[in-house]
This record gives sequence, structure tokens and C-alpha cells, in this order.
Amino acid sequence: MSESNTYYITTAIDYVNGLPHVGHAYEKVLTDVMARHQRRLGRDVYFLTGVDEHGMKVQQSAAKQNRAPQEFCDEMAGHFRSLYDRLNVSYDDFIRTTETRHKKVVQTVLQQLFDAGEIYSANYEGYYSPRTEQFLTEKDRVKGEFPESFGEVVFLQEKNYFFKLSKYQSWLVEFYEKNPDFIYPSFRTKEVLGALQDPIPDLCISRPSARLSWGIPLPFDAEQVTYVWFDALVNYISVLGYESGKVGDKWPAVHVIGKDILVPPHAIYWPAMLKAIGVEMPKQLVVHGWWTQNKEKMSKSVGNVVDPLELIDLYGVDAFRYFVMREMAVGYDADFSIDQFKLRYQSELGNTLGNLVNRAISMIKRYRAGVIPAASAELTPDQESFRSDILGSIRTYRENMDKLQIHVAVMELWKAFMRANQYVDVTAPFKMAKDESKQKELDHVLHELAATLDLLVGELEPLLPATAAKIAFQLGRNLIPKVKSGPPSWPGDLAGVQVGEPQVLFPRLEIAKAAPISP
Ligand code: MSP
Repeated sequence: MSESNTYYITTAIDYVNGLPHVGHAYEKVLTDVMARHQRRLGRDVYFLTGVDEHGMKVQQSAAKQNRAPQEFCDEMAGHFRSLYDRLNVSYDDFIRTTETRHKKVVQTVLQQLFDAGEIYSANYEGYYSPRTEQFLTEKDRVKGEFPESFGEVVFLQEKNYFFKLSKYQSWLVEFYEKNPDFIYPSFRTKEVLGALQDPIPDLCISRPSARLSWGIPLPFDAEQVTYVWFDALVNYISVLGYESGKVGDKWPAVHVIGKDILVPPHAIYWPAMLKAIGVEMPKQLVVHGWWTQNKEKMSKSVGNVVDPLELIDLYGVDAFRYFVMREMAVGYDADFSIDQFKLRYQSELGNTLGNLVNRAISMIKRYRAGVIPAASAELTPDQESFRSDILGSIRTYRENMDKLQIHVAVMELWKAFMRANQYVDVTAPFKMAKDESKQKELDHVLHELAATLDLLVGELEPLLPATAAKIAFQLGRNLIPKVKSGPPSWPGDLAGVQVGEPQVLFPRLEIAKAAPISP
């Protein structure tokens, strides 16, 4: 396949110092929806996710449990990976930063930069926050004090290595001015340019191993390990087997990340690192917002996390995928409300989608012995307008998927499901079934319902892959139909197809059973 057809997409790699929560799961589902959408368009997708295993927090979390860091990471990495498997995240590669392939590339990058004089050693003296693993300056003080979010701040004196980040400042400014759409949503470019208004200091990229042992040793100084970002960011090219300026033909990547890790790591450090090693810029940074609880970021340290597994166990994987895609506009924050989750489950998944599928399949079984009948050759204006409404919704859905307006795309798809339910209500096939003179009309209605599902199931696949497969199966298709190039058109190959058994997709749940969700 030609280079332009490749689509390399990555997620952030999660810290393994705590269990995954809704925020981590959302990002992986979002990236999965983007990856599946591109695959359906025929792109040659390579989807990378994984975990970030080094650093002080992981070292401390392991120590708290009296365990060796590697053993602790092995277990935690398993939790993340199995959650993403359960969520049907269709990654092609799962990177762990403790893997040899990653360590090797981090050391290659460091040696290349050291040899090129881009890394130098210096003595550091100043304030440091162990909680955020950040060196602080006077500018970080608010009303004379370092804010709570830094935790306990200590004064340090030590030798470190620095990357000459400051020399990339004007190049970075120029890059963002010339590429206003590099970041999605583009309003965040302003934040980056704002951060680049003041001089940016060189970046400290190491820690003495006496203080932090859980890291990748610098290839040119065994007494020091790599600082977290210089280790973590490199994952995006370590899976490509990076060697001396060469990244292979999958690059450049679309990086999907949360807004907390845009400035400085992804918008400043990463482009400068790539420039310094002679690698082209990423294709795009897609920056999502935060899931909040009462407007506060959902996070382990705040203690307000929702466990995605609890929701999946009760409502199913696709209910989770549906809710997070429908509820959050990509790039903006959204409050995670269990009540809203239950509401959407019952009304949009159960009553709208589940009901439509159940009605269509059951009626084909009951009235036509399970064989999809033929459509009428001549269409009435109402029948025409039904088709054009469904096809119109699909076009709008696709446009919005392409623009990353995923929540709008979802609404459009549901508009089509509602239109089909309304078609059943208005045409009343259960009445037609009792009237000998209405049999041809009944054939048409049943065909149109099957055709609508057949069309929509393909569009639904990136969002709800398991449900799409179940619907395709109930429709008598072994596979989810492939997207045909060009605008959507009405299917003409369904008459005579034997449907499967109707199956309830989103069972009604007792409220009592659905109640015990944290927090
Ligand atoms: N390890 C770094 C990323 C390195 S990428 C080279 C890290 N890990 S993290 O576990 O803290 O976060 C992983 C991803 O989850 C980030 O993109 C972050 O924005 C996202 N989320 C964590 N909490 C979140 C919410 N409450 N809501 C949405 N996503 C958030 O940062």
C-alpha cells in the first residue's frame, strides 16, 4: 500500500501506578473509534497503545506493596491490557516501556543527541516537586507559596543532564503559527503559543539513579536514569524500530492525548526532540478533555474515579463505548453522571436501537418465515422520503466522523434509528399482516427495515463493534458489510436472505441491580 494510505494512530501510554479509570478507558475507546473509522475507509491503520512504567510514582507504589517494581508493573500492565481487550480496543501493538525494544531506542535517541551536542550536563540547584516530578521555579509560586497540587516541595542540589530545548523556541513558534490545524481542536494552539511567549528553559532529562532507580540508564552515564518524558514520548517511535534518524514508513502519527499532557510534553518537548533527531513532525495532536465529577478532574489522587469494569459488567462493553462517545464532545470536558448513563442505556440503546432490531427481525420471522421479502419496484413519495432520510443521516454521520464531531455523528445515526422506528409506527405492519390486500406493502416495509439495519450496521461498527456484529448476524449476514466507496446507496441484495434468531441487545435492568456504582 502506498505511504499516503497509512494511518498511524497512538494513545497516551498510561502510568501504571494505579488502576485504569474512566478517563483512561475513554481515550482508548476514542482512539479505537477513530482507528476503526479509518479502517472502514480503506486506510492501512496501525494503532498503538500501551503503558508507561518507569518513574518515581511507580517506584513508590511498588515499594508501598513491598514488591519489586518489575513484578508490580507486570501485574498492573495486565490490568490495563485486559481492560482494553475487554473494551474491544483494536490495537495493533501494545508497548510497555520496560520492554527491551523500547529501552534500546530510548538509549539510541539519547546517544544520538549527546553525540550531536544537544545534551549537556550541569549542576542543578532549586526546588523540586516529587509528586509531579517537576523542577519548580519562582514563577510556579502563587501568592508566595507553591500550590497544593505540587505536594511537598523539596530543595535539591544535584548533577543532571539537560536537553537544549531553549534553542528550539523560535522554531516552535514559527511551526505553530504556520500550522494552526496541527492541534485539534485548534483553539488549543493559542495555549501553546502563550506558553512559548516567555523564554523556555532547557529540559532536565535525567535523575541520579541514587534517587530514582526505576528508569532507563543514560548510555553515557550509568549513574543517571532517563527522566520520565524523555522515556515515555519515545514510545511512539520505539515500536517503529527507530534507528539513526529513520522511523520507517508508518510515520507520521496522529497522537490522541488528554489536555493535561499537551503543554509542555506533547506540544513542546516532543516536536523539539523530533526536530533534534531529524524526524518529521507528527501528523496531528488530537487533544481530548477531562471526565469530571462535579467539575473536578476524575483522578486517582482526588479519589473520585469510576471503575469502567463495574459499568461493563452491568451494562456491557458497548453501553460504555456508546455513553462516552455520545456524552463528550472531543476536546471538551464532560461530567460523568451515572444517572445519565442509565438514562441513555435505557432510552437510546434499549428503546431506540434494541427495539428497532427486535421489531424488524421478529416481524420478518413472524410474517415471512424469516426470509427478507423484496421491496416494491415503484416507490410512493413517502417510501422515497424514508430512503432519502436514512441516506441523508448516513451522509451527515460520515461528515461528522471525519471532522471528529463524534457526538454529533452518533446523534445523526440515532436520528436514523428513530426514523425507522417511526416508520414502523406509521405503517403499522402488524395491521397490514391481517389484511390480504396489504401483503405487497408489508413486503416493502419489512424489506426497508432490513435494508436500513444493513446500511446502519456498517456505520455503527466503529462505535459499537460487538453490537454491530450481533445485528449483522441477526440479519443473516456473517460479516458486517464493508463500506462501499462513494455516497451510501440503498442495498439491493437482501431479498431472499434468511434472518437469524432475534436476540435482545440491551436488556432492561432492575434499577436496584444497577445502583452500586462507585463513587
Ligand atoms: N504516562 C503519561 C503519558 C505519556 S504519553 C507519552 C500520563 N499517563 S496518565 O495515566 O496520567 O494519563 C494517560 C492518559 O489518560 C492521558 O492522556 C490523560 O489525559 C488521560 N486521562 C487521565 N485522567 C483523565 C480524565 N479524568 N479524563 C480524561 N482523560 C484523562 O499522563
